[in-house]
Amino acid sequence: MSDITLHITDREGKQHQVLAPTDMAMNLMEVVRSYELAPEGKIGVCGGMAMCASCQCYVTSDHELPEMEYDEEAMLAEAFHVENNSRLGCQIPITEKLDGLTLELAPE
Ligand code: FES
Repeated sequence: MSDITLHITDREGKQHQVLAPTDMAMNLMEVVRSYELAPEGKIGVCGGMAMCASCQCYVTSDHELPEMEYDEEAMLAEAFHVENNSRLGCQIPITEKLDGLTLELAPE
């Protein structure tokens, strides 16, 4: 299996079911961008360096996610609209374990 299915709710509340490749070293933020689920310039602003929080999302399924690194934790400590299930999409690599993941993009 090289594609997984993700369920993504965009900032307008619209739901999308998308396929994401596990063999292209992509992260969640890049998948959201590649499907244009958020306007260009409104997501992935720092290029995936955990420095802008524009890729913040709320993970609503109970998948096991990679532990937060210091950079992600520090960025989320400063970001707006942070919830208990907030993560930075750019810090979550697409792996087979994430098949069926459900998430919602945080407001800008
Ligand atoms: S793209 Fe900037 S923090 Fe994720």
